[in-house]
Amino acid sequence: MSDLYLKLVNTPVGKTAAQSLGLPSPAPLKRLKRVDQPFIEGDILVGAGQGARAIANLGSIVSASPATLHHASGPENLSESAKASTRAQALDVTGDIDGRFSALIFDASGLQKPGELRALYDFFHPTIRKLAANGRVLIIGQDPHTCRKAPQAAAQQALEGFVRAVGKEIGKKGSTANLLWIAPNAENQLDASVRFFLSARSAYVSGQTVRIGKASDAKAGNPVAPLAGKVALVTGASRGIGAAIASTLARDGATIIGLDIPPALDELQKVTGPLNGKALACDITDEKAPKLIADFIEKETGGVDFVIHNAGITRDKTLGNMPEHFWDMTIAVNLTAEELIDEELAERNLMRENGRIVCISSISGIAGNFGQTNYSCAKSGVIGYVESMARHLKNGITINAVAPGFIETQMTADMPFTIREAGRRMNSLSQGGQPVDVAETIAWYCNPASAGVNGNVVRVCGQSLIGK
Ligand code: NAI
Repeated sequence: MSDLYLKLVNTPVGKTAAQSLGLPSPAPLKRLKRVDQPFIEGDILVGAGQGARAIANLGSIVSASPATLHHASGPENLSESAKASTRAQALDVTGDIDGRFSALIFDASGLQKPGELRALYDFFHPTIRKLAANGRVLIIGQDPHTCRKAPQAAAQQALEGFVRAVGKEIGKKGSTANLLWIAPNAENQLDASVRFFLSARSAYVSGQTVRIGKASDAKAGNPVAPLAGKVALVTGASRGIGAAIASTLARDGATIIGLDIPPALDELQKVTGPLNGKALACDITDEKAPKLIADFIEKETGGVDFVIHNAGITRDKTLGNMPEHFWDMTIAVNLTAEELIDEELAERNLMRENGRIVCISSISGIAGNFGQTNYSCAKSGVIGYVESMARHLKNGITINAVAPGFIETQMTADMPFTIREAGRRMNSLSQGGQPVDVAETIAWYCNPASAGVNGNVVRVCGQSLIGK
């Protein structure tokens, strides 16, 4: 669906009118244009607080891009910034700063106590106004759950509030701020996540924290086709977000098994056909569905690497007015079916080593929406399922969730006008996301180098004001 307001407000007349009326002026987001596009370009400034553990890893990851790397100098508490790379140019942040940065990256993983948070101010205060439109703020911290002492946990948790507040300040220019919390000794797992959060692929992801743990395999593979040789099952693939997931994973090299309800088979084939994928007509709430899906996978591909539980429905009514079949259907499609399919695939050993399960939650499952007790309940259950499964999966298999905010699809086109317009604007980027924004996030989870990313729920919501 097109956002007419976004188009109008980016014309000269529209911009002036919006400013004089105090209306939001969302900036057009730069999304990926070519698959071989560098993950970041322009000038990047890197900084690090005391005891920074990931600074050398960050330096080597960004050095693989054509961007020009600068490291902060000046204040004593930023002295470890120079460890980014011997080729990085020193930039005194206490002096005049010329030019614009496409990204400001800060390694706060070594901060041990709240007093050391001053390094954030010393790095960002002089530089934040120098962040280009569609710029990126990325902070690396240590997962507070792994901190032994309370002052350290306080300093590390503080990063979340900081990142979220920064995201709200820079969103009007289409810029984003995110935080990667690494476990001890997980610095070598940063590659795919740093690339994703610096790139145009994460255009609609802001204000998020991601926990990254230790994992044995962090090989990035072919940057243009990182999923080559892999097989992906995508449910609800005939339209909307599911169709975008199918084409994005196919673009990255995966073979697609698209699934949708039997009446949507024609539409499904229009998606899978051009991708050289396979189409499976199946209602995932049918009691025979798990077996049917497993039989299909066994026969067609012998196994599956990625299971993307995208199929979902809404059946909105306030609780007192809700017929029981609205409740039952919503829980069955959005939650129960996922568990039963995963169970069957696991039992029959069809899920391959280093596989990825990705579930779709919703900000409705985080915040709870009026008239959506059934949907919020199911989508919240998805989060519980993901967090629990992440602790039990074996063979390098990970499970994560995406929680979309307002995404321009048929589901949101069907909303009443005022609710739709409010949903679109109530986020730091003042616009709805595109199905591809959800799909790119899933492609990052599926990347072989995302092995340490497990049990996360990342919101693709432009930092929606709804929910935490
Ligand atoms: P959509 O309604 O455009 O597509 C959903 C697809 O799932 C359809 O193709 C439908 O036929 C399929 N499906 C429904 N029931 C099924 C069943 N029993 N068996 C097999 N397939 C079934 O929805 P959209 O917007 O693309 O959403 C995709 C996912 O993202 C859903 O899980 C939805 O809850 C979630 N989501 C969407 C948001 C949005 O703003 N569009 C926001 C938050 C979450």
